[in-house]
Formats: sequence, C-alpha cells, structure tokens
Amino acid sequence: MRDVRLPRLLVGGLLWAGVSVASAEAPAVSFRADVVPILNAHCVACHLTGQEQGGVALHARAAPANLVGVASEQSPLLRVQPGEPGRSYLFHKLNDTHLDVGGEGGPMPMGRSLDPEQIAVIARWIEQGAHTD
Ligand code: HEC
Repeated sequence: MRDVRLPRLLVGGLLWAGVSVASAEAPAVSFRADVVPILNAHCVACHLTGQEQGGVALHARAAPANLVGVASEQSPLLRVQPGEPGRSYLFHKLNDTHLDVGGEGGPMPMGRSLDPEQIAVIARWIEQGAHTD
C-alpha cells in the first residue's frame, strides 16, 4: 500500500510547489495591504488634502476617488486607467516617463524615487484592475 501512496504524495507536492511558483510570479496586489503603505510612506506628506499642487489627495480614504478613472491635471491621460499602466499618468510620474505622454512637472515622489519593486507593485495593481476594496 505504501508504495502506491508515496508517488501520489510526491506528485501532489510537486503540483503544489508548481502552483506556488506560478503565483509568486504575478502575486495578486491588494490596494490596502500593498499600495496604501507605499502612498503613506512616500506621497501623503505632500498630497494630503488635494488642495496642494497636483490636486490629488493620496491618503487611504481619498486615494481611490482621486486616482481611479480620474483625469490628471497635467496630461491628457487618466491618473489611473484600470488594466492599463501604460495609459495611466500615475505610472508615468513614478517611472519618470510622464513628459513622453504629454505631462509636465517632475517625477514622483518629488525629489526622490521609489524602488523599482514598489513601482512594479503599483503597475501590477493597475494591470489587475485597480481594485480598491
Ligand atoms: C515633496 C512633495 C511631494 C511628494 C513627496 C510627492 N509629490 Fe506628487 N506632486 C507634488 C507637486 C508639487 C506636484 C505638482 C508639480 C509636479 O508635478 O512636479 C505633484 C504632482 C503629482 C501628480 C500629478 C497630478 C495630476 O493630476 O497631474 C501625481 C499623480 C503625483 N504627484 C503623485 C505622487 C505620488 C504617487 C507620490 C508618492 C509616490 C508623490 N506624488 C509624492 C509634490 C509631491
């Protein structure tokens, strides 16, 4: 009996390992768990009420309504076009490609830049539909 069960366990284990490797390549991004901490640490100090330059409030409760499907002030793009980082002005401001898409001003966060991994998290969030629940 044992020699029948053992291979099954092995196969199951390998399948499971395969699934985790696949999901590690494109993990689902959570707005609250992954995006909000980046905004809090690097953006909210300057984008608190939306009355500041740029006109965009980025604290957790305001960010969805200030980003998703909302026209940017500086370019013809929406700040976040769900599913399309390349058509989202937010992504271009982080990536320093905003001038190429008709934008203006400096890259964000002003005076610094995010780690490539943090930019990738935001790009994936947009790509996965920019859900904010
Ligand atoms: C030190 C202050 C400061 C920090 C930190 C900062 N910003 Fe800004 N942001 C500005 C100013 C000032 C402008 C307007 C001038 C410009 O774009 O250079 C602006 C403009 C923007 C715009 C353009 C809005 C539009 O509709 O055109 C976006 C988007 C933006 N910021 C996002 C962010 C994000 C996301 C972060 C964090 C990763 C961030 N900013 C961090 C000061 C800041």
